[in-house]
Amino acid sequence: MATVSFREVSKSYGDVPVIESLNLAIEDQEFMVLVGPSGCGKSTALRMIAGLEDVSSGEIAIGDRVVNEVPPKDRDIAMVFQNYALYPHMTIRENLEFGLRMRRTPRDDRDRLVSEASEMLGLAEVLERRPAQLSGGQRQRVALGRAIVRKPAVFLFDEPLSNLDAKLRGQMRSEIKKLQDRLKTTTVYVTHDQVEAMTMGSRIAVMKDGRIQQVGEPLEIYDRPRNLFVAGFIGTPPMNFLPATVAGDGAFLEGNSFRLPLARTVSGIAAGRRMIVGIRPEGLRRRAATDPAGAPSLPLTAEVVEPLGDEVIVHARIGESMVICKLGPRDSPRMGDSFDAVIDLDRLHLFDAATSERIAS
Ligand SMILES: Nc1ncnc2c1ncn2[C@@H]1O[C@H](COP(=O)(O)OP(=O)(O)OP(=O)(O)O)[C@@H](O)[C@H]1O
Ligand SMILES: [Mg+2]
Repeated sequence: MATVSFREVSKSYGDVPVIESLNLAIEDQEFMVLVGPSGCGKSTALRMIAGLEDVSSGEIAIGDRVVNEVPPKDRDIAMVFQNYALYPHMTIRENLEFGLRMRRTPRDDRDRLVSEASEMLGLAEVLERRPAQLSGGQRQRVALGRAIVRKPAVFLFDEPLSNLDAKLRGQMRSEIKKLQDRLKTTTVYVTHDQVEAMTMGSRIAVMKDGRIQQVGEPLEIYDRPRNLFVAGFIGTPPMNFLPATVAGDGAFLEGNSFRLPLARTVSGIAAGRRMIVGIRPEGLRRRAATDPAGAPSLPLTAEVVEPLGDEVIVHARIGESMVICKLGPRDSPRMGDSFDAVIDLDRLHLFDAATSERIAS
């Protein structure tokens, strides 16, 4: 059991900065997800915890111990990678106990740990097979098993599910989550997949260009993204962004003369201020007969309609802008239809157009 702390950690390759002033305190037993687009420095951050990369400046601590100078094998961590890195010529049992043998764990303990882990992961039946005789999901479970038998203080995962097909990925996602819940081992999990981040993390750190943009619980980040990047990265389909200029108790959308009535949402924001109005696809619904006449709405024209069964994704036009709505299957317009979409003002997100930061609301 351990905490993991980054304190003002920076990392450069030559003079190219990759991580800049990273501060992050991961709590004991926490499941922390580092999420961000390709190249933002997630793997580098993880590899620095593991000791596979040096830190250029700052400190990394596992528990109370600063580990900058501690070799990987003495850090009490176990890492699981995207490519399972199993030994092809060894049986599953031998793969699972390899790390334990290296550590000279006595035979009885080895047997017990391997049988515990293989029970937990549903591998008991395949212990005498070789990796080539397993499915992708089973191989990934062996990789997990190898981490579990070590009983490390910290699990480090680097996109462990990327090689699996969508269905298996969903299944392994919940298996890893359950496993962590049971073992309570502090976990740092790297992914570029925001769905994995939302569903698995007890907290999420959203990264961009080597910097943390926001740290918080999944719903906190979803409901109050701190800036445009986080708002656009978390959520599918992504949040709609409409550039607008504040005017009285509303805002004119750029590119057309539509005035969005925003009432109290913009009270206190100076007229003329340019901002980006953020509306999640599910923050729009088709106007119903029961809606009051004054309910704020967007006049839209449906251009593409994608029925998904339980919901319909509608790509609609307002002037020069496109807006994505997530509607109920019974509210769906047909392609080419004009319709009014009512805006849920309580779930509107406003960002400053110049700084991209959330405007307090
Ligand atoms: N050994 C290296 N030498 C020079 N640059 C590197 C090295 N390793 C990584 N980088 C650079 O550091 C940046 C961050 O890389 P990193 O692998 O941490 O990104 P990532 O967020 O894990 O991306 P991905 O989602 O694609 O795995 C990238 O711009 C990458 O090109
Ligand atoms: Mg990576």
